[in-house]
Amino acid sequence: MDALSRDFFLFLSKNRGLNYMARRWGKSVASGTIIGGIDFESSIPHIKRLNEKGIQVTVDHLGEFVTDIQVAKERTQECITTIQTIAAEKLDTQVSVKLTSLGLDIDINLVRDHMRDILREATKHEVLVTIDMENESRCQATLDLFTELKQEFKLVGTVIQAYLFRSENDLNDLNEHQPFIRLVKGAYKEEASVAHTEKQDISENFKKLIQKQLETGIYTAVATHDDSMIQYTKQLAEELNIPKDQFEFQMLYGMRAKTQEDLKAEGYNVRIYMPYGDDWYGYFMRRLAEKPSNISFALKGLTKK
Ligand code: FDA
Repeated sequence: MDALSRDFFLFLSKNRGLNYMARRWGKSVASGTIIGGIDFESSIPHIKRLNEKGIQVTVDHLGEFVTDIQVAKERTQECITTIQTIAAEKLDTQVSVKLTSLGLDIDINLVRDHMRDILREATKHEVLVTIDMENESRCQATLDLFTELKQEFKLVGTVIQAYLFRSENDLNDLNEHQPFIRLVKGAYKEEASVAHTEKQDISENFKKLIQKQLETGIYTAVATHDDSMIQYTKQLAEELNIPKDQFEFQMLYGMRAKTQEDLKAEGYNVRIYMPYGDDWYGYFMRRLAEKPSNISFALKGLTKK
């Protein structure tokens, strides 16, 4: 896709008025398209269907850039309740969180307290929590908090974005903590001073980070829908004798379902990132920015009762 339409969708993703309107007709885009549902309950049948095929899940309560303390508290409680429901329903799913939804833009002490509350519950029920990576201006704070939490809690992971120049150094710094890392290309609009902007450069760096992380022996997630990156990972693992149980492929819910099943059938671990909740607008626009044909999912959703 051309850079202009990518920028356009990324610009729209930050529009508060459109976000408000989108929430009002959120239900029509919901369940079974690109999100699990407008609440966790309605996502459960979709999770169970994937689990029955041996495909694992990570769920994410949609909502980011929270500036109200009460909302950040509610998001934290939602996350804790979700972990309890995962345990009660015996779902094979982990949880993903965005620090801005838990108060990162309000107060670092607040978000630390919220994460500790979540991780205490996650530890009790043995559910891994991955901290998603947001835009570059929040990367250092996210990695600092992750490093701190990792020393107290085992079941916490985070994300490294291949488009950022800093990512290889970040992996070097993190690896002494034996972290669970999800490697991605990166979804936000970043300045050329901090990030690769050319597709090919991003892919080259992605490959470099995949190799680097797989060679550490630490269990790693490669999150991509890109066939060439999937192929690269498979080939590399074979060449380096890296067993299939040392890494997993991750994809977003509603995308490349056939590829997900094919990978599973070939014996790879596959995990699906399933967002849920009524605050779906920013997420949806970022998916459109990546691939406008993803709009067909939305149109299907809009006609669904
Ligand atoms: P990309 O969009 O670059 O596409 C490359 C090629 O792959 C396309 O040309 C096409 O051939 C094929 N392809 C892609 N999508 C397809 C589709 N739907 N159907 C068919 N073919 C398709 N980002 C971030 O900044 N922070 C985060 O925490 C996360 N977390 C995250 C979790 C998971 C599980 C995933 C999959 C992704 C993220 N991301 C993310 C998003 C990530 O950074 C990135 O923006 C998207 O995955 C898009 O990049 P891809 O590597 O998937 O392929």
